[in-house]
Amino acid sequence: MERLDLLGAISEEPDRLTRQFAGEAMRRADHAVADWMKAAGMVVHHDNIGNLHGRYEAETPSPPTLILGSHLDTVRDAGKYDGPLGVMAAIAAVQRLHDRGRRLPFAIEVIAFADEEGLRFSSTYLGSRAVAGMFDAADLDRRDPVGVTMAQAIIAFGGDPLRIGEDRWRGRLLGYVEVHIEQGPVLEGLGLPVGVVTAIAGQARYRVTFKGSAGHAGTVPMRGRHDALTAAAEFVLAVESEGVSHEGLVATVGQLSVYPGASNVIPGEAALSLDVGHPDETVRIGGTRQILERAREIAMRRGIETAAELLSDNPSVPCSAKLRALLTGAIEAEGLTPVHLASGAGHDAVPMSSLTEVAMLFVRCKGGVSHNPAESVMTEDVAVSIAVLGRFLELLARA
Ligand code: CO
Repeated sequence: MERLDLLGAISEEPDRLTRQFAGEAMRRADHAVADWMKAAGMVVHHDNIGNLHGRYEAETPSPPTLILGSHLDTVRDAGKYDGPLGVMAAIAAVQRLHDRGRRLPFAIEVIAFADEEGLRFSSTYLGSRAVAGMFDAADLDRRDPVGVTMAQAIIAFGGDPLRIGEDRWRGRLLGYVEVHIEQGPVLEGLGLPVGVVTAIAGQARYRVTFKGSAGHAGTVPMRGRHDALTAAAEFVLAVESEGVSHEGLVATVGQLSVYPGASNVIPGEAALSLDVGHPDETVRIGGTRQILERAREIAMRRGIETAAELLSDNPSVPCSAKLRALLTGAIEAEGLTPVHLASGAGHDAVPMSSLTEVAMLFVRCKGGVSHNPAESVMTEDVAVSIAVLGRFLELLARA
């Protein structure tokens, strides 16, 4: 917890926590984390994208590896725990092995990912995508808000942008396990310190438009109108009611633009964002289809046009049954009730799932609040997460 406080003070901005990819604050944070990794018996290196790796060797040569980790970058005006908690818990678990002189039949690689939030280049998961071999070289030309390209930022941080392909993991893996704050209210509601993640919810984003006809607000009678905004308004409520009617579905309209957007003009066009998520692909796809059907039904009834453009679609990522069972056993061994819950937010485990089996342990956080300086976890809960991770490592060693 002291280390998390320390990292929480390493920021690019004086009065709030902001630590972006390959920035000066990240360099200082990495420096501190590298020292803690070394103190826990790990050999440390940076890869080209800028991830910090700490490797704790196995008892035997050429062993398989288990990767533990999370991210050290933050959003703007962030909390102290989203990301860094997973790195600190992993180092603490390795420290306990090191203190006992214990080596396992597998190596442990703790990775502190350089970019998950995507604040600097509006491109998420840079760190874990590089390790998973999914880095897109076209991203190197992206510019940050002050005009620095990603390639320049990587060079300034000490990496070689032309060799990011070499960051891809090579060698046998047992999986990737990440400890993370829940960012939701489930564990708090159940009164439990930790929970095992079943799946990371899939999510699709659409841009939905309604096209009616603009007209004079004073002269076109109410009955003859083709108002695009009233159709959009009806749709926003339909999105909410579809979301509520499917267990676990989340459906959100977060943006709405109205054209031409004058007080004396009937809106001729309205465009809105639609974000739909669910951990089960069948429910997610079925729910999305019903929502888009509601848009067509509303438009047809009102005699206007509608279109939906798919902007992104990320399928849900199921967690490994084997690793989940071991985490469940570890929680039971600590005398706690194991609970299973889905993740509504994306994590480094998403890209890592293309490389190896993944699992996640969620830690209760106050009010489910995250991406906010009010983020808060209890010391006792963090202690439980480290103990569970330690038990998990022993169970995996025997599996
Ligand atoms: Co995070």
